[in-house]
Amino acid sequence: MHHLWLRDNCACSQCGDRSGGHRYLELGSIDPDITPDEVTLTTTGSLQIRWKGDGHITTYLPTWLRENCYSSESLAERQRLPVLWDSALNGHIPEWNFEEVVADESIRLLMFQRIDDYGFAILNAVPTLADEIERLAAVFGFIRQTHYGRVFDLISTPQQRILAQTAHAIRPHNDENFRNPIPGLFMMHCLQASECGGGASILVDGFNAAQKLRSDNKDLFDLLCEVPIPHRRFLVDDVDDVALAAHWRTIELNHHGDIEAVHINERTMAPLDTSAELIEPVYRALREMLSLVYDAQAFVQYRLEPGQAVVMDNHRVLHARTAFNGNRHIRQCHVDRDEFFSRLRALRRRTHNAV
Ligand SMILES: [Fe+2]
Repeated sequence: MHHLWLRDNCACSQCGDRSGGHRYLELGSIDPDITPDEVTLTTTGSLQIRWKGDGHITTYLPTWLRENCYSSESLAERQRLPVLWDSALNGHIPEWNFEEVVADESIRLLMFQRIDDYGFAILNAVPTLADEIERLAAVFGFIRQTHYGRVFDLISTPQQRILAQTAHAIRPHNDENFRNPIPGLFMMHCLQASECGGGASILVDGFNAAQKLRSDNKDLFDLLCEVPIPHRRFLVDDVDDVALAAHWRTIELNHHGDIEAVHINERTMAPLDTSAELIEPVYRALREMLSLVYDAQAFVQYRLEPGQAVVMDNHRVLHARTAFNGNRHIRQCHVDRDEFFSRLRALRRRTHNAV
């Protein structure tokens, strides 16, 4: 560990605590070539450094040093990788009892971790009352209000404005890529299932599809990581006044180069506006990606019954539904991802003293 790094991470009451983001000491006030004057081990096993210059003393718990070690091995160990899945997950989807999740922190933590690992969860025994979606959403974060209001009623109606309000089948997609930020955690609560047995829900792991593309066709994968794709929702008329537009890369990578998000919805794509020489390759890459997420081998399929809800990470899991007849009624809303991940980390810290 570098001397400067060690001095910068002194967490005494005078310097403040960088681990928690509460810092008083300014980086510019530290000599960049600082060195220790004396290094000792305390009787309790902590590392103590007296620094040359002002004689400031810093003490480090060995566990803290291990948890914050930045060797490539330690960084790799701390990396949490998603569990990729496909249709083999059918029949093995764990379900959670809503009231237990609300009442019991340890069960809530298990479910949150499962959402972090797999991108979705199914909850049972959510009372079939219209307002229960507010209580459901409150488990994960704060409802983000849009032009739909706080909650959107998914009912087939003759006055449909969008495909979701019909009874047609809908292909796998991520929701609302025409917004910035894109809705994070997306939830659906079933109040009424269609009488005909149709209207089944389909989920697809977008990370698994992107990983397949990465292994099978790296050039097309790279293109989808680079080229921003335009998405739109324009409804400007007597009824609506909506002109949402945003560009998103179909696949986003994090600073490790791992897949961090996918944004796929060919229904909301606006005319491609990338450079002319990329038009054909981008179409090829999009078609390849779409064929991967439309493949039945990628599907997890189930029918939401009244009182069931599904919660999914809209930046990873694509959703779809089969056609139906009759009076299906789903209520849906979304909350931002950062609030969900904040609650997950806080729960982990409270229960395991870990982030
Ligand atoms: Fe949708």
